[in-house]
Amino acid sequence: MTDQDKKPDYKEIYKIVKDLFEKVDFLSYGPFDETYYTLRVFNVAEKIMNQLDEKCDKEAILVAALLHDVGKIKLNFDLLFKGGEFLGSFSEEWRKHSKISVEFAGEILANLNYPSDFLTRVLYLIENHDLRGDKMKERTIELKVLQDADLIADLGMTGFIRPFLYGGKYKRSVIKSIAFIKTEDRTAGGTKLNLELSKKIAKKEMDTQKRLVDEISEGLKNSYFEL
Ligand SMILES: [Fe+2]
Repeated sequence: MTDQDKKPDYKEIYKIVKDLFEKVDFLSYGPFDETYYTLRVFNVAEKIMNQLDEKCDKEAILVAALLHDVGKIKLNFDLLFKGGEFLGSFSEEWRKHSKISVEFAGEILANLNYPSDFLTRVLYLIENHDLRGDKMKERTIELKVLQDADLIADLGMTGFIRPFLYGGKYKRSVIKSIAFIKTEDRTAGGTKLNLELSKKIAKKEMDTQKRLVDEISEGLKNSYFEL
């Protein structure tokens, strides 16, 4: 954006996104609390950019971070889960959200009078945010940052609390959730990261997650019982 252009009002955009997510039961609380997740992606993207040597379009990335998953509100949840279990049709339905997010984001930003070249830059990021690994040949630095932020946002404290939120929603005991997070290997996401810098940030998040898991497990350790 040039100086004459409108500067993004992140709060205003987030408020719109938050109101949309809060209309959908599944996305407004529990393990798929998208209001929390949106803020996580926004924050991690900022963190990556603060440490990045390369110049990048910060405003487009941060606006895309706020809007990239908004299309989830139009997904058919009957094709995603049943009784807390992922269905076979899950990924096919889930994959649709990037394109739907592009439609929503385009409309939201146009209504807020953002210039069309800014929309183009933001919508490119949203449309491709889920195309990881060899699904794309070349990525702009902006897309690399957004994709990495989206993955890292699910690690650390988030990776720790989500299994408990899941347990609360689908009636799984806290002890079973602890057993789950102890055995779950969440390092796989890290292999899909684009930037070396992101790998370092992800490692720190994983260390935090591991420390939390160790601490909560230690707190239940007893010679009579096993988790
Ligand atoms: Fe997404």
